[in-house]
Amino acid sequence: MSELRETFLDELADLYDAEQQITKALPKMEAAAESEELKEAFTSHMEETENQVGRLKQVFELFEKEPKAKKCKAMKGLIEEADELIKEEAGDAALICAAQKVEHYEIASYGSLLSWARLMGEDEAADLLEETLDEERATDERLTEIAESTINVEEAEEEEEEEK
Ligand SMILES: [Fe+2]
Repeated sequence: MSELRETFLDELADLYDAEQQITKALPKMEAAAESEELKEAFTSHMEETENQVGRLKQVFELFEKEPKAKKCKAMKGLIEEADELIKEEAGDAALICAAQKVEHYEIASYGSLLSWARLMGEDEAADLLEETLDEERATDERLTEIAESTINVEEAEEEEEEEK
């Protein structure tokens, strides 16, 4: 087995575990979110994430491997931080920040996997990875929009209240 193939499968196993951790974390984030828009974003990303796990399984199949999960310590840490924020009732701005850290981790991983798959001539796998990468990027952008619109409005209103 070429070294890149090994590196690819190792990273794939990491991401397979990371996505599963995210499917467990998203309902908690949804429950903690205050704004309807943010709740909706978490719910729709939850559904997407389930499909993403399915796509990773397909990629394993294309490489004639059984799906394998390798504990993703980075995702565990990111989710632990999100859990702390939920406990502290840190608010939507903090939740969005935590969620975007998760998205950026995924974007980095999918980006690498995608370019390695292309290098190895595994275009079918690359296409699947690209589909997910596009979803992660769209989620990230949506979170930015929510942060810029809803949150700012809420914060401004709160400040106004305090001034009164
Ligand atoms: Fe994902």
